Amino acid sequence: MAKQHDIYKCPECDCLLEVKGGCTCDCDCEFSCCGNPMEKLVEQTADKAKEKHVPVIEKIEGGYKVTVGTTLHPMTEEHWITLIELITDDKVYTQYLKPGDAPEATFMVDAENVSAREYCNLHGLWRA
Ligand SMILES: [Fe+2]
Repeated sequence: MAKQHDIYKCPECDCLLEVKGGCTCDCDCEFSCCGNPMEKLVEQTADKAKEKHVPVIEKIEGGYKVTVGTTLHPMTEEHWITLIELITDDKVYTQYLKPGDAPEATFMVDAENVSAREYCNLHGLWRA
């Protein structure tokens, strides 16, 4: 069953699809792209100490700054962070990035409970 915020990826063209509403049916929802089933991405988390992918959330005046990760992630044409999300109890804020950008995003959001996700084009989906 597809849940709100699940992200699926096409194994052929790397297209990403994010579920905006939770599925209410009883089926095994399957999304397709390029004629193939899309793969559900699993959020990865890891020890932050040596990690380049786990987002680091910093409270700043008026909001949050999210950096990927404790050692800055590369942002080259071959290997980059395509997006960073800040997730609150009832909203998702997205910053799309491109090669050459800094692997960070600032969200002027007044919320107490937040988490962050990022997507690396080579290493997948990560959450903190
Ligand atoms: Fe990566």
